[in-house]
Amino acid sequence: MFDNWEELEKSIENCQKCKLCQTRNNIVFGVGKKDADIMFIGEGPGADEDAKGEPFVGKAGKLMDMAFTLLGIKREEVYIANVVKCRPPFNRNPEQDEEQACLDYLRNQVLLVKPKIVVLLGSVALKNILGSEYGITSARGKWVEKKGIYYMPTWHPAALLRDENKKIDFIKDLEMVLEKAKI
Ligand code: URA
Ligand code: SF4
Repeated sequence: MFDNWEELEKSIENCQKCKLCQTRNNIVFGVGKKDADIMFIGEGPGADEDAKGEPFVGKAGKLMDMAFTLLGIKREEVYIANVVKCRPPFNRNPEQDEEQACLDYLRNQVLLVKPKIVVLLGSVALKNILGSEYGITSARGKWVEKKGIYYMPTWHPAALLRDENKKIDFIKDLEMVLEKAKI
């Protein structure tokens, strides 16, 4: 673990710790405020993110941006990262060996950001951060506190594209996050 961003960022350059390095175009490290109160964790880059090197810039990201605008959240005031930093081919889910290889980077990001609140976007983020015993359908919308950090599991923005009803849940969950962030 590194106690500063420079060394952490340097350590991931040209990372070949898992097989996703063979097919990626760019490592998608994370963006935003480096000491944000609120951190968002997604699953992994898609095609647009892989092309740009930035998380949530594709279709799902646009939807997340719309929710942010509605709620007055500014991208540059939060920190956004993913469980795996390189795109799984054909947008398949990351495999366990890939998640395990990549997770230390994310853990280090959480240590450096020191967020009050972590929003877990979907099942992959939830299971990797809080444990495989959690399921997104029952965990979403409920706070979990661990070592002084409050975790809010919610739907992955891509799920909102498939199911309109989930948009309402997503907005409600983020409203709870904003409410708690004020304290
Ligand atoms: N989906 C994710 O989980 N992360 C991204 O960065 C983009 C889409
Ligand atoms: Fe390294 Fe993570 Fe990319 Fe795998 S996904 S090559 S561990 S940065």
